[in-house]
Amino acid sequence: MKKIIIAIDGHSSCGKSTLAKALASHLKYIYVDSGAMYRAVTLYFMRHSIDLTQEKDIIDALNQIKIHFEIIDGHNTCFLNHENVESDIRTMEVSNLVSEVAAISLVRSKLVEYQRAIGKDKGIVMDGRDIGSVVFPNAELKLFVTAQTKIRAIRRYEELIGKGFDVRLEDVLSNLNKRDHIDSTRKDSPLIQADDAILVDNSYLNREEQLNKAVELVQKRQ
Ligand code: CDP
Repeated sequence: MKKIIIAIDGHSSCGKSTLAKALASHLKYIYVDSGAMYRAVTLYFMRHSIDLTQEKDIIDALNQIKIHFEIIDGHNTCFLNHENVESDIRTMEVSNLVSEVAAISLVRSKLVEYQRAIGKDKGIVMDGRDIGSVVFPNAELKLFVTAQTKIRAIRRYEELIGKGFDVRLEDVLSNLNKRDHIDSTRKDSPLIQADDAILVDNSYLNREEQLNKAVELVQKRQ
């Protein structure tokens, strides 16, 4: 079976990573959560009080950052400079700043270079905002996932509550709207549906239905 690159982009909390993880596990592919990388950079910037208007400080900080992933207890886990930050990068504080950090071109070019290196041997499912449009424009399969805003907010709220975070639905909803706006209107690599991406609205699809739909599309491309 030919190994391919699968790019999954879409709005905040639309279930991209749920689908990407399930698809990668079904195909025995590598799963890469590019959003986790932007979140890890944001966490580093927050911890070191990096001024987002100071280019030199950003360059120096980026030179200090190493991100990698490990599978721990079956879960994809993000490490920042060898520290497990999987939980710390999911807080509302990080969610509230990440889109501003992700709009900085210096940040994007460093992470895109790393993402391309991980995908060089194919057999990869990567989710994010610009994977089909910028990171892997030649990906064999591109999906653009979306769902109604209220449904996305409830899903993320339940996920965060399930992980023990103390959050309010209205804050989650306003964060989603804010990130979608910044992500879609930024100059560098805005969130757009690539011309050749297939739109998947999963508002009323369960996980299994969503996976089956994606698997069918993969089979046509292998
Ligand atoms: O899980 P959720 O959809 O809420 O977000 P995420 O995938 O963890 O991404 C967090 C943020 O990182 C997004 O809101 C974007 O600002 C940024 N991001 C990006 O700019 N490009 C990517 N390829 C992935 C994420």
